[in-house]
Amino acid sequence: MADWYSNFANSGFGTTVTKQLGLPRPGMLRRYEPGGPVLEGPAVVGSAGQGRLRDTLTAVLKDAGVPVLSPVAADGSTDGEKLGAVILDATGVTGPGDLAAAHDFLAPAIKRLRANGRVVILADPPADADSPAQAAARQAVDGLTRSIGKELRDGSTANAIYVPEGAEAGVASPLIFFLSGRSAYVDGQGVTLSAADVPATQDDEKPLAGKVVVVTGAARGIGASIAQVIARDGAHVVAVDIPAAGDSLAKVANEIGGTALQLDITADDAPQRLVEHLKERHGGVDVIVHNAGITRDKLLVNMDAARWNSVMAVNLQAQLEITQALLDGDVLNPGARVVCVSSQSGIAGNRGQTNYAASKAGVIGMVRAWAPTFAERGATINAVAPGFIVTEMTAKMPFGTREVGSRLNSLQQGGLPVDVAETIAWLAQPTSAGVNGQTVRVCGQSLLGA
Ligand SMILES: NC(=O)c1ccc[n+]([C@@H]2O[C@H](COP(=O)([O-])OP(=O)(O)OC[C@H]3O[C@@H](n4cnc5c(N)ncnc54)[C@H](O)[C@@H]3O)[C@@H](O)[C@H]2O)c1
Repeated sequence: MADWYSNFANSGFGTTVTKQLGLPRPGMLRRYEPGGPVLEGPAVVGSAGQGRLRDTLTAVLKDAGVPVLSPVAADGSTDGEKLGAVILDATGVTGPGDLAAAHDFLAPAIKRLRANGRVVILADPPADADSPAQAAARQAVDGLTRSIGKELRDGSTANAIYVPEGAEAGVASPLIFFLSGRSAYVDGQGVTLSAADVPATQDDEKPLAGKVVVVTGAARGIGASIAQVIARDGAHVVAVDIPAAGDSLAKVANEIGGTALQLDITADDAPQRLVEHLKERHGGVDVIVHNAGITRDKLLVNMDAARWNSVMAVNLQAQLEITQALLDGDVLNPGARVVCVSSQSGIAGNRGQTNYAASKAGVIGMVRAWAPTFAERGATINAVAPGFIVTEMTAKMPFGTREVGSRLNSLQQGGLPVDVAETIAWLAQPTSAGVNGQTVRVCGQSLLGA
């Protein structure tokens, strides 16, 4: 499913019109299909600096069945097979001079990138650098990746993975995510890994097989999509929503063979009721997705306490209290995952959304602060921050507002609920153990708060 403008701009007549008028031509995004290849087309791998990940990358790509071509010549030649992905290992750069090699490798290779191609750059985290020159070169990778994201067209994306010494075992999960259609609407992002015990393998088709996953706000919208994707990946979903949404909640749960739990997550006894339900029915829980959220927009000067308090209660306080109850109740199974839904508004701020943006920024602070506690248990806690996602809510926006909102990103279109769901399902995977305390934006590299 693509929006009307993308369909038009990619039709024969629309291509001519958009070219002549200089209008954006959004690519038709390649999305994940179980059983499909990770990439369309081969990858090319190059390095700048010492490149300590060469063996890791070779092994990961081989396991994933991605063919690897030898690096293209540095003469800008565009001959040869089109590339599905361009991967640069920039670990070990010691100063800005080392980055010339990055330019020499990337420029001709990116010329050969096909539609829906992928650029992934791996580097050491700037915060761990030994010298200002080293920190500068590492931080430069961030500007490089984000700019490539803005230059690419036709649904292609560029993302970075920061890999500290000792965290190499965690590379496979974000690399395959960024290469695959699961990350269709994730662009211009960087994920920093931590050292962790990462399982060597997982079932690629059903990575969540045997897991019990709670999804809050599952009766509709993004939450329903999360429940569907997580069930598709093999898990039993406990779908949670308010009693007033009981009918649609039951429908979502039945369709995916999950169970429905009617619960207002802001009720005083909600954390305890959830813990007891999970203990009694499932003996524990593997993943909780804190998706339920509300908006009560008004300019701050006109906002009454009820609007402020209700948004804080659902979007932030409930996530804090339920997570604490799961920790205290000893109900989290080994290797547990908590995935929280934040928002681009929590990064960029938004007029009329002081309450919402404050609550969603709070979520980002919460996952960062809790990450070490979860790491000690071999678990993780992360957030996703969606940008403009096409839902029933956005369909009701005035035409102009909707069009402007959905085009202001590198992919020139809004994302779909499934794009948020795929990112959450990826963070929930067993092999994502090295991704902890991170907030991953699902925003097509939105220009807001970039
Ligand atoms: N739609 C977007 O473009 C967008 C962008 C950024 C972030 N988000 C976030 O994504 C999440 C889902 O958004 P959506 O667009 O699907 O919203 P939605 O309003 O369609 O769905 C939210 C669901 O949460 C449930 N809910 C609300 N309060 C609850 C409570 N107290 N207890 C239990 N369930 C409760 C609702 O009944 C509803 O089913 C929210 O956290 C939202 O802030 C959405």
